[in-house]
Amino acid sequence: MIDQTITKRLEQVRQRAHAPYSQFKVGALVVDEKGRHHVGCNVENAAYPSGCCAEQSAVSQMVVNGGTQIQTIYIKGSSEIACPPCGQCRQIIAELGRPETEVIMLDAQDQATRCLLKDLLPSHFDPSYLATGKSEK
Ligand code: THU
Repeated sequence: MIDQTITKRLEQVRQRAHAPYSQFKVGALVVDEKGRHHVGCNVENAAYPSGCCAEQSAVSQMVVNGGTQIQTIYIKGSSEIACPPCGQCRQIIAELGRPETEVIMLDAQDQATRCLLKDLLPSHFDPSYLATGKSEK
């Protein structure tokens, strides 16, 4: 069972999502290296690709608040079954997470499905590739 402080906060932020186009509200809660919580929701836009996912919003919030590493991220969407982070969000979580970062997806009844980031996004692009690149003009 997930702590009620987390499930309540997650549902509260999910309800604040701006999702008039998809009607699919998502909430995310990041726990940082100091155990602090940072939340985010999806914010859609009439110019569809300009919208922002809940996970991206929560990770940005962590950075704004001075957090540097994602220990755990909780995600709750509008579906009955737990929804996993999209591909772009996996990459965003990887930037400030670790292979062992826990990704916890909640269904409509707040039942959790847990996995590790390394299993959701194996062999991802990371800064080490930039260092091995040759400079191009
Ligand atoms: N969405 C998220 O917020 N996170 C995801 O990982 C998947 C999708 C949002 C984007 C869009 O506002 C809505 O859900 C439907 O795709």
